[in-house]
Amino acid sequence: MGIEPLVMDCKEYIDTKSRIVDSFLRDYFKGQSKPAVLQEAMLYSLFAGGKRLRPILALASYEACGGNAEDIVPYAATLELVHTYSLIHDDLPTMDNDDFRRGQPTNHKVYGEAVAILAGDALLTEAFSILSGMPRPANIKHENIIRIIREISEAAGINGMVAGQVQDLLSENKQPDRQTLEFIHTRKTAALIRASVRLGPILYDSSREVHTALTHYGNSVGLAFQIIDDILDIEGKTEDLGKPVGSDERINKMTYPRVYGIEKSREIAEQLITDGISSISTFSSDADPLRRIARYLLIRKN
Ligand code: IPE
Ligand code: IPE
Ligand code: MG
Ligand code: MG
Ligand code: MG
Repeated sequence: MGIEPLVMDCKEYIDTKSRIVDSFLRDYFKGQSKPAVLQEAMLYSLFAGGKRLRPILALASYEACGGNAEDIVPYAATLELVHTYSLIHDDLPTMDNDDFRRGQPTNHKVYGEAVAILAGDALLTEAFSILSGMPRPANIKHENIIRIIREISEAAGINGMVAGQVQDLLSENKQPDRQTLEFIHTRKTAALIRASVRLGPILYDSSREVHTALTHYGNSVGLAFQIIDDILDIEGKTEDLGKPVGSDERINKMTYPRVYGIEKSREIAEQLITDGISSISTFSSDADPLRRIARYLLIRKN
């Protein structure tokens, strides 16, 4: 398949699923909290125009298992809350110190650091309130809700994203080191992407084989996603990305291009995407969105 149809196919799928996720989030946060500035700061970043990749992967993976995506929208949407919290904190002056995100000034630039930190805290906490408190569709088992709560908390916590973010900060200005680089990328980014993909088989109560295949897909696509992010930080355009290019070089981050060079990084990402797609080769056409999203991630511009 040529690149254009691939992008178009994906775009339609991504747009449709984003709208469903956004509509849940808008309803959920209608008139939720006081002081108003907290609500404002949370919604400012949440509705700034993210790709919604993580919830979309969760919905696509539930469909790949044979389910109806509509059943799990609230659970999928919580991934976006956790992700948005991580971006608000990632941009803070004590972390990456970035001024633009999703095409607008970063949260702390508008609301100040204290409110930005607290808006991030609130998004993270609210995710778990939704996960544990939403009325459960009859076809989803209670025990599987507990399992996804564990899945997401493990991916976001001390063995996942937070660990990756700490190592990312500790590794600024350090000698390139492949093992550390892989530690950072698998945790700060791939962990939550993998958890997103695993939501499908957990909630659908799929077989062990399906779990394993989707776990491989999630690992590969998750790592490739961060490698492409590193490449886009060098080769992308700020207008497309909605965030500044050159941020990694400015603070001398340990990235794939810095350790392997751009060409080799792209090859590694391509191989990971190929591996991810082949791990779901026995799935039916219900898994086509997962296949297309994986290929699209290689050619994305934002
Ligand atoms: C950016 O994630 C941070 C990384 C983990 C690389 P996305 O590229 O998914 O950001 P949004 O959600 O579309 O803004
Ligand atoms: C961030 O990685 C990963 C997160 C957990 C937020 P980056 O620092 O490379 O993400 P961007 O480039 O700022 O979006
Ligand atoms: Mg960072
Ligand atoms: Mg950053
Ligand atoms: Mg980056």
